[in-house]
Amino acid sequence: MNRKFDFDTAPDRRGSDSHKWNKYAEAAPDVIGAWLADMDFMPPPAVIDAVSERLKGPALGYCEPRRELINVVIERLEKLYGWRVHPSWLVGLPGVVPGLYGAVRAAGNGVITQSPNYHHFFKAAEYSDQKSLPLRHRVVNGRWEMDFDHLRELTGQGAGSFLLCNPHNPVGRILSQDELQQVADICLEHKLLICSDEIHADILLDQEKPHIPIATLSPEVEQRTVTLMSPSKAFNLQGIGSFALAIIPDPEIRNAFEKQLYGVATYPSGLAFEAALACYRDGDQWLAELLDYLRGNRDFVEQRIAAMPGLSMTHVEATFLAWIDASRLEMENPAHFFLVHGVALSEGGEMGDANYLRLNFACTRAELEEMLNRMERALSVLDV
Ligand SMILES: Cc1ncc(COP(=O)(O)O)c(C=O)c1O
Repeated sequence: MNRKFDFDTAPDRRGSDSHKWNKYAEAAPDVIGAWLADMDFMPPPAVIDAVSERLKGPALGYCEPRRELINVVIERLEKLYGWRVHPSWLVGLPGVVPGLYGAVRAAGNGVITQSPNYHHFFKAAEYSDQKSLPLRHRVVNGRWEMDFDHLRELTGQGAGSFLLCNPHNPVGRILSQDELQQVADICLEHKLLICSDEIHADILLDQEKPHIPIATLSPEVEQRTVTLMSPSKAFNLQGIGSFALAIIPDPEIRNAFEKQLYGVATYPSGLAFEAALACYRDGDQWLAELLDYLRGNRDFVEQRIAAMPGLSMTHVEATFLAWIDASRLEMENPAHFFLVHGVALSEGGEMGDANYLRLNFACTRAELEEMLNRMERALSVLDV
């Protein structure tokens, strides 16, 4: 691909306000930050222009999304997924995470969630004083899959909602129509609310696998679902101010959801609205080039990890995160081992499996290569 945008260079975030780069810097000054899920790349130039322009005026008081943003969102959902969404179904949020908490609290009762998972899926149940019902994943023919027999068992244990992560962080799967249909059938049969976090929907690395919002399976599923989407992950907007959307067709569920978040999840900022509009209206080319670059990084990580003794991983279909099995190292804390050797990875334990590590490959190829070299050197002293 001939690129207009340069992903081989990125401003150095060491010593900046980056949480990913700072968290371990005191303990290990030269450490490479590869744990938190943000990217080292600048957002698209269109975003920087739109935000800079907006700062010039008019005054940034309490803002609302411009009509143009709503229209662009609705057109995009129809173009990408054939999903016709009514503007009244949209609830603006300052991030996807508040939406997870709002949904489980609106549904009440226990929370079924895939395990492993992004840690807020477990916390949303725990901090809402609801029973967490983790659903087993297992690797079948080299691919992570949900255990549907286990899902049926869990529905009988007082569940009120199913929190779905698709595409999935950390296992990197894009769920197929058949898998989504099984989830939907079971949830409808047991009258569970489905809350589908689709924040990674724009980071599709396997081009032949489409992202399917679960709500598009049928009008019945649509009516039982809260869908959470945001441009912040694919366009790296977190520090500008996230803008997320909950899409909730059923008015009763929408009302219950809004009540849970009333006064808690404040409204997104005017800069976040401008950034989101610039991404969705003007960001397609940048996103296509980013994905092309990330595919190269994904292939590189997969090759290098396959050659490292004691580590293995499955293919990453979506996201910029690799979920690495370190069980053969037989270490209590494999993340600490690599931290000492200069690479800060996420500990799998907080995502449901302490034998795993999560590596963020949304960085320049050179940084990634250095990270993998350090990991390889660290392993070379072990007898595995
Ligand atoms: C699945 C998932 N949901 C939500 C978030 C965070 O969303 P936000 O920053 O919009 O609250 C992340 C961040 O990594 C994520 O992976």
